[in-house]
Amino acid sequence: MLMWGIASSVSASAAEVSPRDRIRLDAGWRFHPGDPPGIDGRLDYDVRPEVVRSADGKVADARPDEAVRIAADRPVLKPWILPTANRFIRDPAARHVRPRAEPSIGDVPFLDAGFDDSGWTPVTLPHDWAIAGPFIAEGPYGGMGRLPSWGIGWYRRTLDIPATHAGRRVYLDVDGAMSYASVWLNGALVGGWPYGYNSWRVDLTPYVAFGGVNQLAIRLDNPPESARWYPGGGLYRDVWLTTTAPVHVAQWGTTVTTPEVSEASANVHVRVEIDNTTDAPVRVQVETALHVLGEEGKPQAEPVARIPALGVDVVAGGTTAVTSGTRIDRPRLWGPPPNQQPHRYVAVTTLLRDGEVVDRVETRFGIRRLEFDPDRGVVVNGEHLPLRGVNQHHDLGALGAAFNVRAAQRQLEILRGMGVNAIRMAHNPPDPQLLELTDRMGFLVVDEVFDSWEKKKTPLDFHLIFPDWHEADLRAMLRRDRNHPSVILWSVGNEVGEQYDGEAGAAIGRRLVRIVREEDPTRPTTASMNWAKADMPFPAAFDVVNLNYQGEGIRQEPEFEGTERIRTPPSYPAFRAAFPDKVLMGSETASAASSRGVYLFPVTPRNSAPIRDDNGGGDAARQHVSAYELHAVDFGSSADRVFATLDRNPYVAGEFVWNGFDYLGEPTPYYSARSSYTGIVDLAGFPKDRYYLYQSRWRPDLPMAHILPHWNWPGREGEVTPVHVFTSGDEGELFVNGVSQGRKRKGQSEYRLRWDEVVYQPGEVRVRTWRDGAPWAEARVETTGAPARLALEADRDRIGNDGRDLSFVTLRVLDAQGRAIRNAENLVQFEVEGPVELVATDNGDPRDLTAFPSPARKAFSGLALAIVRGRAGESGTATVRVRSEGLAPAELRLHVGAP
Ligand code: GAL
Repeated sequence: MLMWGIASSVSASAAEVSPRDRIRLDAGWRFHPGDPPGIDGRLDYDVRPEVVRSADGKVADARPDEAVRIAADRPVLKPWILPTANRFIRDPAARHVRPRAEPSIGDVPFLDAGFDDSGWTPVTLPHDWAIAGPFIAEGPYGGMGRLPSWGIGWYRRTLDIPATHAGRRVYLDVDGAMSYASVWLNGALVGGWPYGYNSWRVDLTPYVAFGGVNQLAIRLDNPPESARWYPGGGLYRDVWLTTTAPVHVAQWGTTVTTPEVSEASANVHVRVEIDNTTDAPVRVQVETALHVLGEEGKPQAEPVARIPALGVDVVAGGTTAVTSGTRIDRPRLWGPPPNQQPHRYVAVTTLLRDGEVVDRVETRFGIRRLEFDPDRGVVVNGEHLPLRGVNQHHDLGALGAAFNVRAAQRQLEILRGMGVNAIRMAHNPPDPQLLELTDRMGFLVVDEVFDSWEKKKTPLDFHLIFPDWHEADLRAMLRRDRNHPSVILWSVGNEVGEQYDGEAGAAIGRRLVRIVREEDPTRPTTASMNWAKADMPFPAAFDVVNLNYQGEGIRQEPEFEGTERIRTPPSYPAFRAAFPDKVLMGSETASAASSRGVYLFPVTPRNSAPIRDDNGGGDAARQHVSAYELHAVDFGSSADRVFATLDRNPYVAGEFVWNGFDYLGEPTPYYSARSSYTGIVDLAGFPKDRYYLYQSRWRPDLPMAHILPHWNWPGREGEVTPVHVFTSGDEGELFVNGVSQGRKRKGQSEYRLRWDEVVYQPGEVRVRTWRDGAPWAEARVETTGAPARLALEADRDRIGNDGRDLSFVTLRVLDAQGRAIRNAENLVQFEVEGPVELVATDNGDPRDLTAFPSPARKAFSGLALAIVRGRAGESGTATVRVRSEGLAPAELRLHVGAP
């Protein structure tokens, strides 16, 4: 039904408090790892293939035959879990029917209300059960981050649901649980959701004791070998209890679109899905008012437009949707800074039954005109925005997978400082609050759902459940995220095995694209390809062509000649020729690696090289990659080479660098480490030198110059020690102890100034730069003295006391003259006093296996980080102190109070 109208009045009662309750269930949980004794797999979602390891610990493969054999003799919970997906399965015939009988699971003490869980660990959500470690130093666990994320975990808490709620619907909304969740209320299996990255809902109503204490239990079961990176484990995102009237707006039941947008006006369509859980048809009135979203996150009092009340007959025991619309004059558009502002609106939708308000929901949205232009790329409200993007994994470094708004916001702030305007969510739906941040801050987002389809990348990854769950998981992500103005593109897969499969793989791609169009006809769809070629069926299945590494070419260097590994020539021109009507982008570029502040010699004269011990790239014994920022993983390229490729192919929409922040797991090329080397920013949030190389290109109007390496090289006196400068200028002159090393200009396809013949002598290195002949920026580094004292600096000295807000405190090691020592490695000890707790420490060293909660940590390349949280409900002044043997200590004060 499509209705159209301009402003009428909303009834007076619509201004009252919403009859819907949404309570965040963060406190009061108890956690226990492992099943009670004697369960023997009776609570498993399904039988899994057995993972077989060879003698050296490597995973050989999974044995499916074994799985089938075991399956024959034990029941699994899958038939009771699958119906949770039904809302997201379009074909009614394909929906699942819950078995009539309850599963025969025998006695499971953890499900009993009378079970004494006082010995379990009290936890507050979000909770990542693995992040505290300890790290697993031995064995083949580098890929998943050397932290114990796999295994079974239980969470229990009680819910008081008052007798006055009888007749209402009670839902549990889970923003993400890692993974294979099953939810039990008062001993009964309610439902669940296997994929750990999606958000989902189960309907508790049939199992609720209204007016009584309800025992909730959630069991998670994280398979080993299920990810190429650290997945985390547990209820690592928020969990909500939602209660509504029997007739209410459905889960993610509002969709706001803006089919026509101009400076003068915007047409706004609002589609509302209404659930009727009663057994009779119900007539309701639906009204929506559109407000400007105020700075403080609330709708401004006076609406800018109203959609007149519509009467809707909602079918008995089902769902009815209604679409209506209105116009906003002179809309404030959503667009990325610095040239635009991310203005937003809120649609406040009210349901009335017999004149009484029965539900009200708020839907934030933005008005923007999005174009995909094959000759230029992405155009937002008429402004062409070359994508200056990074890939981001979901973990937050030392905080693990447990989502934290401030930690995510800090990441985005640091990335913005480098000039980033776009984020690819690699390779799964993010926490919903991250999209709220990208909306608010004005980033462009590629929202990605899967890293594998039917073909596996690791033995127990998503491929096991793709056949049963892909439709539900894809639709769930789309419905949850489609109102976010920051999302510009859907990605249905990353480097999936099906790109090798010719027509069969393309057919799966087309099916996923069809699902996307059904849920959201307003945005294009893509899938990232590191292998499929322009003349193959796979790329043709998608609206946007997204290449991983192929644009620059893969393994084109002489060292790969004659090897068996995939080699691919620079491929943008071939894709451009094959798909002149499609936008091309680099969804993964670079995959350059480095250890922050570690410089290896001799420095390669090339501008991009693989990481080898004999070319100045790597040091396998120390597990470090050189921070001269010239080396990439075997299939990747340096930042410089990517820039040159993009400059040669200006129709490419831009790039998403692999990757923004280092992440836990996948520590290519040294798998005994804990975290990646490919981030532009390290795991602690400290920029590597590469940060300034990107900044020099992505913020061309910021006068800046950055020198590497540091200048503390006792023992290298008289040896060649190249100096490189990243600058937004085009010319520079370098001085060592006042002696000019020559004036240099960036040539064509050159993005750094390099003085490769400099001979080390202690003292001062200084650079003066120019742009278009005019003085532009200067920088200097000095040889420092021995460590003498410590210094602390907080990113924010006022934090909230909501139990979540954080201050990130940076430690520097200084010499007697107060100069930061860029290669200091002193062991430091943090301590806090007052209304805060020390949550974690880090230093960005990928090899550091000191557990994150440890207050003692070595500085790495001169820096360490302490993450401090304000205690819930407490206020006052807190002190953070740090000491280290033989050095003068430091302290700072933080103010904790109402947010
Ligand atoms: C890509 C992959 C990413 C990551 C990256 C490492 O091939 O899509 O997830 O593995 O390589 O450099």
